[in-house]
Amino acid sequence: MTIGEALADATRRLEAARIASPRLTAEVLLSHGLDLDRARLHTRQPQQLPVRSAAAYRAQIERRSAGEPLQYITGVQEFYGRPFRVDRSVLIPRPETEHVVEAVLELAGPDAGPVVDVGTGSGCIGVTLALEIGGSRVVLTDVSRDALRVAKNNARRLGARVTVACMDGLSACRGRVRCVVANPPYVREDEHAGLQREVREHEPRIALVPAGGPGRFYERLIRESRDRLVEGGLLVLEIGFSMETQVRGLFGAEWRLLPTRADLAGIPRVIAARRR
Ligand SMILES: C[S@@+](CC[C@H](N)C(=O)[O-])C[C@H]1O[C@@H](n2cnc3c(N)ncnc32)[C@H](O)[C@@H]1O
Repeated sequence: MTIGEALADATRRLEAARIASPRLTAEVLLSHGLDLDRARLHTRQPQQLPVRSAAAYRAQIERRSAGEPLQYITGVQEFYGRPFRVDRSVLIPRPETEHVVEAVLELAGPDAGPVVDVGTGSGCIGVTLALEIGGSRVVLTDVSRDALRVAKNNARRLGARVTVACMDGLSACRGRVRCVVANPPYVREDEHAGLQREVREHEPRIALVPAGGPGRFYERLIRESRDRLVEGGLLVLEIGFSMETQVRGLFGAEWRLLPTRADLAGIPRVIAARRR
């Protein structure tokens, strides 16, 4: 079978499984498997696909047809221009989370640290901040040890100097920090069943649905941040669709709320506040 035939066959299978962008998916998976960029893949369409590569490719197409996200199959997702390794123990970094990074970079200034990234997952927020604000101390925390293993690996591969700590919220955070940042789990228990299959069946539930509900999670994070931030310190939080009023309402008189930032779709996405 040639590369061109393999691509056509995979596209048909993905189409039959109702996977979005079947041709693009087929090309991304084969270029990943053969370690070729997509332009090269096109020029090599008449070449034979080695039998072993064909078997591995077919298995990957089956995984994607069964609803597994592309990024868990390739093991990588780009975030803020850098490749982050991902596996099923972490949420796949989302483009809208880049607005959280941008908010910290704009508001915290060059002397941002110590920064704590709560619920770091793949480490995408904290590792990016450590690389973008050289010299600032960044601590990556998560309640999931498996997620921290992925975050630590990403920090090492990308050359970021960070500290990693397993904890629930900010419970084990000692000393004062200048910035707390988080993209918390913010899906309600009753919303989980209605999520896209890729998310519902494959992404870790702990990264999506917080114990006790999103309201309690945000309320606790704001309270714990209040107790650990220096005067003028910054709290930056990602929020889910239509959560702006609820989450802004959780900040008390100890805070000076900054304007909410919207994502590229115009959805209010990032809430920032300074500790008075
Ligand atoms: C929405 S994911 C965000 C991951 C990553 N920061 C990102 O933006 O892609 C939420 C993360 O919070 C972690 N988490 C859930 N409950 C937690 C808790 N009580 N304390 C600390 N981390 C928690 C999950 O393991 C998960 O990695």
